[in-house]
Amino acid sequence: MPKAKTPKPPDSLEVRVRRIHRRDLNRTWEFLKLVFRDVNRETVEYQRPRSKRRFLEVYTSEWIEQLLYEVDGSIVGYSECAFEATGDDNWVNPRWFEKRGMRPLFVEELAVHPDYQGRGVGSFMLDQLQHLARTRGCTHLVLEVAENNESALAWYRTRSFYKLDAAIFLAQKVPGEPDLLPPRRLKRRQKANGETGAPTTGPMPEVVSVKVGAARKSRTTAARKKSS
Ligand SMILES: CC(C)(COP(=O)(O)OP(=O)(O)OC[C@H]1O[C@@H](n2cnc3c(N)ncnc32)[C@H](O)[C@@H]1OP(=O)(O)O)[C@@H](O)C(=O)NCCC(=O)NCCS
Repeated sequence: MPKAKTPKPPDSLEVRVRRIHRRDLNRTWEFLKLVFRDVNRETVEYQRPRSKRRFLEVYTSEWIEQLLYEVDGSIVGYSECAFEATGDDNWVNPRWFEKRGMRPLFVEELAVHPDYQGRGVGSFMLDQLQHLARTRGCTHLVLEVAENNESALAWYRTRSFYKLDAAIFLAQKVPGEPDLLPPRRLKRRQKANGETGAPTTGPMPEVVSVKVGAARKSRTTAARKKSS
């Protein structure tokens, strides 16, 4: 009787790495937007991936290696690393590393499809980057991660990544004040003969109390004087 073929357990998958091709660019861009959608909502830093223009430029750079990780032909991971700090928007000072005898491999992007996270794809990618670093004579993997990307940060820390002397974002609250001043009470306008008149514009003046009885009395006195 022929031996029955052992079926593969459904969760046993094989991930393969290869260099990116021009024909992969559009779907890789869509893949990156999907992976970073939730991460971006929470970070103050530049958004990942930065821009499609930059992403397409990267493909032509000889200093940058873009690798795709696939399971059955579908992209499940992407890594991007640079052997030089190139471009006008890079975030490092190469002299800082030179002074310390470090030759870094800059890990610009590391992304695993949400459905495949926690299954070892990221570890495979990191092994691949370590391998590349060794074969190219680099001494360190260097990367930037948002401090509040807690799951990624914890993931790096358990893999012996440590913090470099780098910038952190600080903010100080400025006491709140409205731009516009509060309303201001207007002066009564002076008439030519020295009497005050009611203002013609602006808020109503405060109520002026008039002694009605006294006024009537003085008018009566004046009328009497006039008639006498
Ligand atoms: C960070 C990231 C690259 C890790 O890749 P991954 O394939 O999930 O990692 P792995 O499967 O190799 O490692 C699994 C480990 O991470 C932990 N882990 C991290 N995120 C996890 C998640 N979302 N689901 C399950 N496990 C997770 C597991 O507990 C496991 O721990 P262990 O190594 O002690 O067993 C991936 O989660 C990711 O792409 N995140 C979104 C994008 C991002 O933030 N990238 C980094 C920006 S710089």
